[in-house]
Amino acid sequence: MANPFDVLILGGGPAGYVAAIRAAQLGMRTALVEKEKLGGVCVNIGCIPTKALLHSAYIASLLREAKEFGVEAGAVKTDYGVAMQRSRRVSDQNSKGVEFLMKKNKVTVVKGAGSLQPGRKMTVGNDVYEATQAVLVATGSRVKGLPQIGLEINKTSVISSDEALFLERAPATMAIIGAGAVGMEFADIFHAFGTKVTLIEALPRILPLEDAECSDAVAKSYRKRGIEVIAGAKVKKGTVGKDKVTLEIEAGGAAQKVEVAVVLMAAGRAVNTEGIGLKECGIQLDDRGFIKVDRNLQTTAPGYYAIGDVAGPPMLAHKGMREGVYVTELLAGQKPHPIRYDNVPSVTYCHPEVASIGLTEDRCREQRLDYVPGRFPFSANGRARGTGETEGFVKILRDKKYGEILGAHIVGGHASEIIHELAVARENEYTVEEVELAIHAHPTMSEAVAQAALDSLGRVVDM
Ligand code: NAI
Repeated sequence: MANPFDVLILGGGPAGYVAAIRAAQLGMRTALVEKEKLGGVCVNIGCIPTKALLHSAYIASLLREAKEFGVEAGAVKTDYGVAMQRSRRVSDQNSKGVEFLMKKNKVTVVKGAGSLQPGRKMTVGNDVYEATQAVLVATGSRVKGLPQIGLEINKTSVISSDEALFLERAPATMAIIGAGAVGMEFADIFHAFGTKVTLIEALPRILPLEDAECSDAVAKSYRKRGIEVIAGAKVKKGTVGKDKVTLEIEAGGAAQKVEVAVVLMAAGRAVNTEGIGLKECGIQLDDRGFIKVDRNLQTTAPGYYAIGDVAGPPMLAHKGMREGVYVTELLAGQKPHPIRYDNVPSVTYCHPEVASIGLTEDRCREQRLDYVPGRFPFSANGRARGTGETEGFVKILRDKKYGEILGAHIVGGHASEIIHELAVARENEYTVEEVELAIHAHPTMSEAVAQAALDSLGRVVDM
């Protein structure tokens, strides 16, 4: 048998590289096939560089308010190119970190475009690799444009996050189409670097998957800062001119034109399922284009598994990472902890940050659940007042009968970190009362969680 391995993994993003490490830890001979840099979209053109840029944006906004805190920093000048170069260094460090982890765990990394073959095989160029146990497909997703309305990504005036991450200068004006996580994060970044940003969302509110109160709070914050937010807006047509793009929009029954230097497409992603031999191996797609998998993430072809974005939503790095661990532990004969997809936290790292887990209040109503909401605003939290991060709140939806945390929603500084106490609680089925029983250090932003829990029990103290 040529190049025998126990497990072959196609794609070195968060799902693939984590699966490779876990498989190797469990004693499997593992090969990871990747055509670009290790780390995938997340490390190279996604989660990691955007977080670096968002921090630059945060520093700019902090400096603009510094005087109020008794610190004079002079006139604030921003340079997107410098921030971008720093974000590239951060990405590269992370990608090298993944390379190091592959070496440390003795994972064979094969550089090149892999193609699946029947019989648990994969070709990379002229080489054929074979797996005794399983092939894992972790090819991820890519940005999609809207060519049907004239907005094909041309990489100069109509760009995606892929190009936005490499710009040398922040454009004077930018329209961002789509107010999901990508759109929200880039609106925050470019606004802080001096771009006049117009954010356009087709659905009635920005971050449409989040709780309506969270969407409203962030929309208010963005508008206050001068980001134009147009929700419930349909982009009918885009016309790419010499040095401007004109968008024809219909919002609230009225037609509107937006002229900008650059359009950033953030209207969702398409999965990478083409040209990798899925059909030849009998691997079917579902009606939304994701790879069809069973509850063990096995595809319609025995011995072939799919993990990460290709295996279905939510298209989040941490969901893919967990799937990688789950499948490899299953292959090693273990009984891995089942993945509860309703316990995958969602975080948008814009300012103020938005983080959530479980059901939104609208969903609770739709499902006719008997729930009590508990809320606590950061404006009443001592730590938040001290740091000036008084925007936002914590909201916990408590099941009236059993005290279960049906959902938790946070808008505010450090929401991305605070959410995890509620993630631990939900995964372990703690009640809202049990969350509150834990003594929360004072003064912390996390106290707002305890106070929101108390509020849902009718015993809020600090308000
Ligand atoms: P998304 O699907 O989350 O959001 C796209 C938004 O565009 C939706 O709200 C949709 O209603 C809107 N839209 C679609 N067509 C439109 C049109 N013609 N006009 C106006 N609006 C339109 O996709 P996004 O933000 O591109 O992110 C892709 C994936 O990557 C998502 O699964 C997202 O969760 C993930 N991601 C996660 C991040 C995080 O966890 N912080 C950061 C970035 C991406």
